[in-house]
Amino acid sequence: LVSLKNKIILITGASSGIGAACAEQFAAQGAKLILIARRQERLTELTERLKPYQIPVLVQTLDVTSQEAVQQFIANLPSEWQAIDALINNAGLAAGLDKLYQADITDWEAMINTNVKGLLYVSRYVVPGMVARNAGHIINIGSIAGHQNYAGGSVYCGTKAAVNSITQCLKLDLTGTAVRVTTIDPGMVETEFSQVRFKGDNQRAEQVYKGMIPLTANDIADAIVYCATRPAHVNILEMILLPTAQSAATVVHRENA
Ligand SMILES: NC(=O)c1ccc[n+]([C@@H]2O[C@H](COP(=O)([O-])OP(=O)(O)OC[C@H]3O[C@@H](n4cnc5c(N)ncnc54)[C@H](OP(=O)(O)O)[C@@H]3O)[C@@H](O)[C@H]2O)c1
Repeated sequence: LVSLKNKIILITGASSGIGAACAEQFAAQGAKLILIARRQERLTELTERLKPYQIPVLVQTLDVTSQEAVQQFIANLPSEWQAIDALINNAGLAAGLDKLYQADITDWEAMINTNVKGLLYVSRYVVPGMVARNAGHIINIGSIAGHQNYAGGSVYCGTKAAVNSITQCLKLDLTGTAVRVTTIDPGMVETEFSQVRFKGDNQRAEQVYKGMIPLTANDIADAIVYCATRPAHVNILEMILLPTAQSAATVVHRENA
């Protein structure tokens, strides 16, 4: 197995949900963490929670939708942080659940800019170093929505289908190198995802998980750690994780419903 001790792990969207759970689980394995997200106070709280692990942590507020900010950040990393071993492209969101012909165009821009372009920008600036060192692992967070479509999901499903294609193409581009590529594609995970999607309408967000047991952020982080720790010759290209109560993007069994 590949040890994560002293490995440098860059996690985007580390301030909440799956990204924050990854930070804790990789910290528990003795990794060194580069944590980025937009909300400074959340990153500060997370850094406090990571203190007991006594690992080096580099925290940066960064919006992955800014190509220039991403480029500057990666180019100016202190030398001891430059040799990134694993990139977890997790920053992402769903905004709204509206019909294509009624949706708010700014929601589309946010999803496309973050889930697709942000993921591409970070990859574009981090992967060259991995290729040069002939070592590394890119782990993208896709979704069941990239495989199965649902009503009102036109742009979110589209962005996650794009993540799936980008992952497969990157694997092809890395042929002959030791760099690994994975997409982790979850079904329903209870995080801030639905609060963000419904813009703070917490009642509507809670309905999403009513009468069923969703996955937790830790379940996904566990799968990510699993993929990252396989022997060097093993590349898990794609992993789909669903709650037991969910059988497809739109098929969910709910108790008392
Ligand atoms: N929850 C689910 O059911 C589910 C299912 C399948 C896939 N996913 C995917 O899992 C990933 C993580 O979502 P989550 O469920 O953990 O939701 P979450 O709790 O809302 O976390 C999303 C994270 O992304 C960060 N982020 C958003 N926009 C960003 C930007 N422009 N620049 C930098 N960071 C940004 C947020 O931090 P800031 O706001 O501080 O920037 C936050 O840390 C997403 O890609 C999502 O599409 C989620």
